[in-house]
Amino acid sequence: MIIEPRTRGFICTTAHPEGCEQGVLNQIEYIKSKGKIDSPKKVLVIGASTGFGIASRITSAFGSDASTIGVFFEKPPSEGRTASSGWYNTAAFEKAAHKAGLYAKSINGDAFSNEIKEQTIALIKKDLGQIDLVVYSLASPVRTHPVTGVKYKSSLKPIGDVYTNKTVDFHTGEVKEISIDPSVEGDIENTVAVMGGEDWEMWIDALKKENLLSDDFKTVAYSYIGPKLTEPVYRNGTIGRAKDHLEATAFKITDKLKDISGKAYISVNKALVTQSSSAIPVIPLYMSLLYRVMKDNNVHEGCIEQIQRLYTERLFLDEVPTDNEGRIRIDDLEMRADIQEKVAELWEKVTTENLMSIGDLQGYRNEFFHLFGFNYDEIDYTKETEEVVDIAGLQ
Ligand code: NAD
Ligand code: NA
Repeated sequence: MIIEPRTRGFICTTAHPEGCEQGVLNQIEYIKSKGKIDSPKKVLVIGASTGFGIASRITSAFGSDASTIGVFFEKPPSEGRTASSGWYNTAAFEKAAHKAGLYAKSINGDAFSNEIKEQTIALIKKDLGQIDLVVYSLASPVRTHPVTGVKYKSSLKPIGDVYTNKTVDFHTGEVKEISIDPSVEGDIENTVAVMGGEDWEMWIDALKKENLLSDDFKTVAYSYIGPKLTEPVYRNGTIGRAKDHLEATAFKITDKLKDISGKAYISVNKALVTQSSSAIPVIPLYMSLLYRVMKDNNVHEGCIEQIQRLYTERLFLDEVPTDNEGRIRIDDLEMRADIQEKVAELWEKVTTENLMSIGDLQGYRNEFFHLFGFNYDEIDYTKETEEVVDIAGLQ
């Protein structure tokens, strides 16, 4: 098959296997180039196939020779359809991991369900005995509650007032105003149920109950704060309430881990183009400007650079550096005063006409297409692709 990007709004319904592999190999190369990392050797990554999750899996495996189990929800290829990009990413990751002699197995299914937790527990018991790190990197618009069966949908809405600001259609480059209606009854609770900390806690409870967590066990979940200008739709909006809940859950989990001196952390990460973040209004325009400013200041990072820094300069130090609220901050460069001042200045004057010159729309687009394996210089997109129907370690 010759595979081309087919986009619908902020989603791309096709993915390119060799391109996705290229993205994974580039990340592996980056980690190897930075040298060995002293971090846990038996790692479970939940949300392991794209974005920060695959970056975490790669960092553990190729930085620290860790055995990894990855859980995710991806589509295999089917008649006339490519697989989803996380499928190809994982196939490429496992191929490289196995070639390097590393243990890597995967479970594809709904991480919110009891069934997938049970499968994961069985696999850990069979192969690894215990786990010393759980990375929780799920991002999902829906969750079916495993006890009640209620299906929750999350939303990205301001709370209280209509929020009006600029946004960009990153395909056309058109900058325009968007007004987002405030949340209605149930939106906050629904969003907290999907993206809050309940499922993270359920995972840790389930693993601990089976005695699968080692002494000094650590777990980390990813959060976001961002600038003033996105506050109404992000941190002070419905998704922000879910992040508040996730962050509070870290303390709750740490309490439950006292007997094994375990600890749960939040890492606040930088704004990056992923399948999840491109769905949030206003943020893509902010990111186009942020990328420009961070690149101009030589402090731009992608998921892999972020996680490499999380592992080597934060999470596994004897004294883990945190902010006043106990959170690890690797959004420090994004939030630097001079960076934010410059972005705010550009924000005031950005229009359809000048976005290409004052912002980094091209960089945004490029990363968006990279998510699906497109726009890699190394790949000849006129060539037939290989069908990747198998992930070697898929259970
Ligand atoms: P992503 O969309 O790239 O990754 C989501 C992962 O979750 C994928 O592996 C997907 O397969 C998996 N997944 C989704 N639903 C699932 C389900 N029901 N069962 C099993 N797996 C499922 O997202 P991302 O941007 O890497 O986000 C990961 C975390 O990082 C989120 O908590 C997000 O809020 C946070 N974060 C993101 C940004 C950003 O700018 N992208 C910044 C800071 C923090
Ligand atoms: Na992820």
